[in-house]
Amino acid sequence: MLNSDLDMRLEPRIKELYELHKLRAANIDWSYHEFIPWDKAMSFKRVPWDESQVTLPEGVIIAIETALLTEVNLPWYTTHLDYTFKNSMDVISDFVRTWTSEEDQHSSLLETYLLVTRNVNPARLHALRKRVVETGWFPEFTNPLATMAYTSLQELATLVFYNNVARIAGPHDPDLATLLRRLAKDEALHYAFYRDTVKAHLELDPNFIVFFEKVIINFSMPGVVMPDFEDRMKTIAIEANYGPLQFFDQVLDVVVKYWDIANLQPTTEEAIAAKNNILKYHGRLKRLKDRAEARK
Ligand SMILES: [Fe+2]
Ligand SMILES: [Fe+2]
Repeated sequence: MLNSDLDMRLEPRIKELYELHKLRAANIDWSYHEFIPWDKAMSFKRVPWDESQVTLPEGVIIAIETALLTEVNLPWYTTHLDYTFKNSMDVISDFVRTWTSEEDQHSSLLETYLLVTRNVNPARLHALRKRVVETGWFPEFTNPLATMAYTSLQELATLVFYNNVARIAGPHDPDLATLLRRLAKDEALHYAFYRDTVKAHLELDPNFIVFFEKVIINFSMPGVVMPDFEDRMKTIAIEANYGPLQFFDQVLDVVVKYWDIANLQPTTEEAIAAKNNILKYHGRLKRLKDRAEARK
């Protein structure tokens, strides 16, 4: 009987993935301060915030603010991972600490950008930020393998989100596009670690698919706890280049193919059902996407 813990036989492989992560991360420029257009900064005491100072289109602002309010809940993401992997391999604890130190920069970079460029009302933003962190986040699943699949999807979704918004933001502010692409690089490395840990398990035993089914089918971003999340995502889908179509094409379809779910050969009844349910869900979203594209 399989259990939902990471498989100890894969410890050497996961150590390899962590070493690879550190190597790649060492090649990234960590001078985050250089991504902020400091020349635009003014004291809020001398020049109070006013709506007329806003320069970006509303959809882009909502996208950046939503990303920021998702990243600020890092203390809760770390809490969840720490709880989930408490009795797991040491290398996972090491990775979670490295990961936290990298994620730690994301919300401050986005917030500093918004404050310096005055694209948001700072008092409103800080009240929202407090409310989101106070609400916290702790998902229903706390088993290690489900968490690995969830974080794979979440990191890839975040990476795609930053790159797609960068494309829309670029013509309005090239500095913002550069900043978003820098964040996307971190998310790409995170995604690779989680994704390949999942892949290694499926290669070792395709019956592990049972632990991935629910999180794949019920995936929603951890930002779902913030006020007006649904409205925000609708606006972002229309105005900032990230919605259900992009989720299917650039996230779900990508992991389903990378994990080669269609060709897995699980042997238990439960695992065969899990595989089929994922493929059914994938097929349903694909049909919705094809219909939406035909309408365009
Ligand atoms: Fe992040
Ligand atoms: Fe990340």
